Amino acid sequence: MQIAAETVAIIPASPLSGLQISRLQQALEGLTPDQLNWASGYLAGQGAVLPAAQPVANDSPVMTILYATHGGNARNVAEALAAKARNHGYTSRLVSAEAYRPRDLSKERLLIVVISTQGEGEPPESARELFKFLKGKNTTSLADLQYAIFGLGDSSYEFFCQAAKDLEHLLQARNARNLVARVDADVDFETRTSEWNQVVLKEVEQVIPTDQARIIPLQQPHTSVRYDRNHPYQSAVLEKRRITTEDAVSEIDHLVLEIDPDAIRYQPGDALGLFFRNDPEQIDEILSRTGLSGETDVSLQGETLSLSKVLSERLELTQLHPAVASAWASLSDNPELIAINKDKNKLRHFCHERQFIDLLTAYPADVDAEGLVNLLHRQQPRLYSIASSQSTYEDEIHLTVSALQYKAHGRQHLGGASGYLTRRIDEGDSLDIYVAENTNFRLPTDGNIPIIMIGTGTGVAPYRAFLQARESQGSTGQNWLVFGNRHFHHDFLYQTDWLTYRKAGLLDRISVAFSRDDANRAYVQNRLSDEGVEIYRWLQEGAHLYVCGGLNMEKAVSQSLKEIIRLHGRVDEESAAEQFESLRTQGRYLRDVY
Ligand SMILES: Cc1cc2nc3c(=O)[nH]c(=O)nc-3n(C[C@H](O)[C@H](O)[C@H](O)COP(=O)(O)OP(=O)(O)OC[C@H]3O[C@@H](n4cnc5c(N)ncnc54)[C@H](O)[C@@H]3O)c2cc1C
Ligand SMILES: NC(=O)c1ccc[n+]([C@@H]2O[C@H](COP(=O)([O-])OP(=O)(O)OC[C@H]3O[C@@H](n4cnc5c(N)ncnc54)[C@H](OP(=O)(O)O)[C@@H]3O)[C@@H](O)[C@H]2O)c1
Ligand SMILES: Cc1cc2nc3c(=O)[nH]c(=O)nc-3n(C[C@H](O)[C@H](O)[C@H](O)COP(=O)(O)O)c2cc1C
Repeated sequence: MQIAAETVAIIPASPLSGLQISRLQQALEGLTPDQLNWASGYLAGQGAVLPAAQPVANDSPVMTILYATHGGNARNVAEALAAKARNHGYTSRLVSAEAYRPRDLSKERLLIVVISTQGEGEPPESARELFKFLKGKNTTSLADLQYAIFGLGDSSYEFFCQAAKDLEHLLQARNARNLVARVDADVDFETRTSEWNQVVLKEVEQVIPTDQARIIPLQQPHTSVRYDRNHPYQSAVLEKRRITTEDAVSEIDHLVLEIDPDAIRYQPGDALGLFFRNDPEQIDEILSRTGLSGETDVSLQGETLSLSKVLSERLELTQLHPAVASAWASLSDNPELIAINKDKNKLRHFCHERQFIDLLTAYPADVDAEGLVNLLHRQQPRLYSIASSQSTYEDEIHLTVSALQYKAHGRQHLGGASGYLTRRIDEGDSLDIYVAENTNFRLPTDGNIPIIMIGTGTGVAPYRAFLQARESQGSTGQNWLVFGNRHFHHDFLYQTDWLTYRKAGLLDRISVAFSRDDANRAYVQNRLSDEGVEIYRWLQEGAHLYVCGGLNMEKAVSQSLKEIIRLHGRVDEESAAEQFESLRTQGRYLRDVY
């Protein structure tokens, strides 16, 4: 039909293909002007109902967005980039490092990596295989690969963003080319992401212009609400009780939170991320030392709130970050502080045992309310291992929280989150939470496999979840708990649970090490050596080993295990180390350390 053909012909740069245009022409053929008017309204209405057409997108991914995370931050950053890429018309393959086959690197053309740093400058467990592959002797060339890396870290640590730096080094050694400069993002990483997204996508556009892509369906799949650090879930505290004696070295509480099981799902091994309120006494002192009023309105990320609310709920007061001390040095113009600020290592040590209040007290400075809010960092959520299994407590989450406290600079210091949870929060109060998945600390899928669970202090928490899950799944594999703490009578955490499981036959063995009960400091690694024959036998039977708690404890445990393999496997040191390494590769040595 002449009219329709002319109409189509004058539409500039039609988004329709030739075939679609000809179909449209056929459909409109023979319609009266009234009918055409009606049809145009109908089509406009259809267009309004559907989400606005995305520019264009390829049906095969143009880039891989790989993330390696422990607490979920890197995943959030990667997901945000994938969503932005989609809006630009690009499909991407979003994949966790543990699900990624390193050999596929040679097939990639565009690889975007978001990676955090853990331990002492190490990559997250999920990226172990990737790093191993890149460090390996294979000759894979990555000359056709262009990459971009977003590193997440914390400059309070000695090896800031080391995993991102190492990864870049390894990729470059194989001739991969940099698409954009690596970003080493600090605790305020969220402030860096949107600019990075733009820079990356601009460069991707140079490599693959969007008009080379093809249309993808307009409607995005419906996704249910996911609670994460940007959208926490409001749980209620159902129960809180002390599980160490009054005279114990560490003050540890067991907390029970109420959740809606339709909204929150978790697995044994996962941690819980949570936000907290700072100590009101500390806030009063900050206000009094600065001469500011808590009633003053301040703006924070587009919101207007009172200064006392912002100090209580939004800002970081108890972890003093080097960047904050540095800004305070400029503000106070104090020569001593300025000198410390010039030496990175000194500054890190200085911050380690201080809170913001120490800085303010020792180095007073004039600051107004907005200035204070801009200077302090936003509160970082803290992670706590989940001590329950949802198969046993469907609508609850249990936590084991130790109050972090230390004396320094003439005052008693209490950790922000652990202080809130152990001293200030009450039953009935609400708590903003989200599940921080830890797919690298999972029970074996085969319930027949024996497990050895090694933990010190609060590191025992996930094993309570493990045993509950093994019980409710009717797993037949043997279970051995190796637990260490300071005193049998003061801090044998969850003793009655273990004894009940022991009686019921669920817990086959329990070995304990109390470090301060006598002069010989007994640690879990000593217990492992004492039980070396049996440990070796369990390993031969395919046992999976878990280690949870302090970083140094894990180092000592891995050392002790290598020694056990050497001694009882009658092999030399090198092959003991190789066998231990192979346990890790097989996913039979899993650790969750902090
Ligand atoms: C995956 C994971 C799981 C975890 N699970 C648990 C758990 O189940 N239970 C648990 O209790 N904790 C757990 N933690 C630790 C927890 O996340 C917090 O780090 C801990 O509770 C301290 O946080 P806070 O806010 O109380 O202290 P913050 O306010 O964060 O203060 C910590 C700061 O105090 C300083 N500091 C710490 N110790 C000393 C010291 N001895 N002397 C001087 N300065 C010091 C350092 O600067 C440190 O950065 C886990 C951590 C991770 C990463
Ligand atoms: N950053 C870290 O490395 C780290 C490590 C652990 C805990 N923490 C924090 O400290 C707080 C209290 O933790 P907690 O009371 O649960 O436990 P903890 O401080 O880890 O102590 C638990 C037990 O582990 C022992 N231990 C200490 N060093 C060890 C090592 N190298 N090898 C083996 N065992 C070792 C302790 O013995 P002794 O005390 O008698 O030596 C104690 O018996 C928590 O807030 C936690 O976050 C931090
Ligand atoms: C136990 C632990 C160890 C860490 N070690 C380092 C480190 O050595 N270097 C660093 O830059 N950041 C370190 N960080 C900070 C994390 O990299 C940072 O919090 C990051 O945002 C976490 O991202 P994720 O949630 O994706 O794992 C460490 C954090 C934790 C909890």
